Amino acid sequence: RTYQQIYVNNNGHLTFNQPSSQFVPYSFPARGSQDVIAGLWTNLDNSARGVVSYHQYTSGNVLTRATQDINTQFPNLNFIASWVLVATWNKVAYFNLINTETSFQVVLISGGNFSFILMNYGDIAVTGHPVQAGYDTINSTHYFVIPGSINGSFISNLRNSSNVDVPGRWVFRVDGGLGNMFVWLV
Ligand SMILES: *[C@@H]1O[C@H](CO)[C@@H](O)[C@H](O)[C@H]1NC(C)=O
Ligand SMILES: *[C@@H]1O[C@H](CO)[C@@H](O)[C@H](O)[C@H]1NC(C)=O
Ligand SMILES: *[C@@H]1O[C@H](CO)[C@@H](O)[C@H](O)[C@H]1NC(C)=O
Ligand SMILES: *[C@@H]1O[C@H](CO)[C@@H](O)[C@H](O)[C@H]1NC(C)=O
Repeated sequence: RTYQQIYVNNNGHLTFNQPSSQFVPYSFPARGSQDVIAGLWTNLDNSARGVVSYHQYTSGNVLTRATQDINTQFPNLNFIASWVLVATWNKVAYFNLINTETSFQVVLISGGNFSFILMNYGDIAVTGHPVQAGYDTINSTHYFVIPGSINGSFISNLRNSSNVDVPGRWVFRVDGGLGNMFVWLV
């Protein structure tokens, strides 16, 4: 699916068709009716502590860095990034746990016909709130659950786990090459 808009929701997930204030995540695969990217979908309260922000890039150092990171991981694609969206939850508190600080990023990268999701995890405070990290698509044709992200007590390990040998980083190719999911428009 191709989207021309995206919503960076304060509870740690991204949606496409409409914003979401849902603070209790559902578990993936949900076989639901929407595409969701969950950096760390949980009950966050950035009105108590922390900042949620996003930036889009179509030139400059961030594109260079994204190009390098993707080519390191996928050396045969000759990938060149042309569009990057970085959404950051910086030192955000969990709801009702005002002294907690949790930091992570979701980075969407596209160029040519290639699209990638990159998640970066910093310090992730322990919480009793349910959490979900990964992605899910309409009808769950494609989905991924980052291990340990369902039950809150394990999620501090997100800082150390990886599928690309970089602690705290998870990278997914999501264009048609390995099964259709999303194509970001530039
Ligand atoms: C994208 O894919 C289409 C169809 O396979 C192809 O014609 C086109 O050249 C590709 N574009 C790039 C930039 O690789
Ligand atoms: C999802 O499943 C429903 C029910 O089987 C079907 O009608 C719909 O076309 C599916 N949607 C997509 C995008 O595959
Ligand atoms: C989550 O924790 C509960 C209680 O310990 C356990 O029953 C359940 O199986 C766990 N779920 C997952 C997906 O690990
Ligand atoms: C992550 O790794 C660091 C360095 O190896 C270690 O000190 C820390 O305890 C680990 N944290 C978790 C949550 O496993």
